[in-house]
Amino acid sequence: MNPAQLRAEIPVLKKRAYMFSGGIAPATNRTIKAMDDYMKWVTQDPDGLYLHTEDAMHDCRALFAKLVGADADEIAFVESTSAGSNLAVDMLTPAPKGSNVVFDEYAYPSSVYPWKLKGRENVALRFVQPRDGIVHFEDMEAAVDDDTIAISISHVTPGQGFKHDIARLAKLAHANGAVLIVDGAQSAGAMEIDLHKWGVDFYSTTGMKWLMGAGGVGYFYAAKKHLDKTPTRAGYSSNEHGYGLHKFEFKDNAERFHLGLSNTMGAVFSKPGMEQLLEVGTKVIEKHVLDLSGYAIRGMKERGMNVITPDEEKYRLGVIGAIMDDAEQFWKFLYDRGVDTYFAGNLFRVDPHVFNNRADVDRLFEGIEAYESAHK
Ligand SMILES: Cc1ncc(COP(=O)(O)O)c(C=O)c1O
Repeated sequence: MNPAQLRAEIPVLKKRAYMFSGGIAPATNRTIKAMDDYMKWVTQDPDGLYLHTEDAMHDCRALFAKLVGADADEIAFVESTSAGSNLAVDMLTPAPKGSNVVFDEYAYPSSVYPWKLKGRENVALRFVQPRDGIVHFEDMEAAVDDDTIAISISHVTPGQGFKHDIARLAKLAHANGAVLIVDGAQSAGAMEIDLHKWGVDFYSTTGMKWLMGAGGVGYFYAAKKHLDKTPTRAGYSSNEHGYGLHKFEFKDNAERFHLGLSNTMGAVFSKPGMEQLLEVGTKVIEKHVLDLSGYAIRGMKERGMNVITPDEEKYRLGVIGAIMDDAEQFWKFLYDRGVDTYFAGNLFRVDPHVFNNRADVDRLFEGIEAYESAHK
């Protein structure tokens, strides 16, 4: 499948220039069919549904593993990125007195808050400040020392669209006896990722954005070497011995993080999108996303927008941020013209994915020009 063929599979694109993949994914025809089947099962054959949905969850783990260069056994099916972040922190605490964790100032709150829970006060949180919109590796390096237990970052940051070099950060963490925790909510599904090769320890993401799946679905990767660490919660799904009340041992794979019945509807919804992304291929996806984001950045700047996302490909991916006082008004103006973007406070954001094309971005440009004229 090529990007144009995937595009043809997404009904909303017939009318709208949908460029909010950093928020929520549009359904493809295959997703719609899967949900129709789900409704048929639940109304006509609930017993069949019980069997099928369990499969869908494991299929999602396997598909996700393929997309990020991991093994399915290292992937837990969780409810959100935040749930995954908490699992990683649970396994690293309690930490020795005097420990620290290194973030950058663009970190997502769900990476930071788990460290603020009771009993974790002895871990100092260090925040590296970006310079000119870039989190410099050298600054991260300077913040790490022998007491660092983790470097914790968003692979691609959600406002600025800054992309870290996580292979380099993994090396830095390991050289100091620490681990690398990555929030992949703005990267998984939009680029080639090789968690094994890059040496990432923990990686969490949501299914509902670039992975073209459902809300309430997330994936948590723990590298094999960490699967001997003990989770803080247990359920029948985590028990090697199933339902037996008197025998409990955690499974030796990432299912040890599963508790009970998972989000089966979300699993059914989430499978087709990942299948289709794999059919396009992550190499093609990354090239396409970088091309479109570069095109968008150039055009937005030419039209006078205050873009904060770096120009250089190595520092960006699919999220493009710009600062403007009237971001909400501008977002609404575009929305009414059939161009879907995002705003938060004074941040305006546009996130083209592999199923978008230059014509979608041109509709954004036309919107910028029309907004300018209307507000002169
Ligand atoms: C970097 C990043 N992390 C996490 C999330 C979402 O977290 P969750 O999956 O817990 O809702 C977002 C959503 O915008 C995000 O941009």
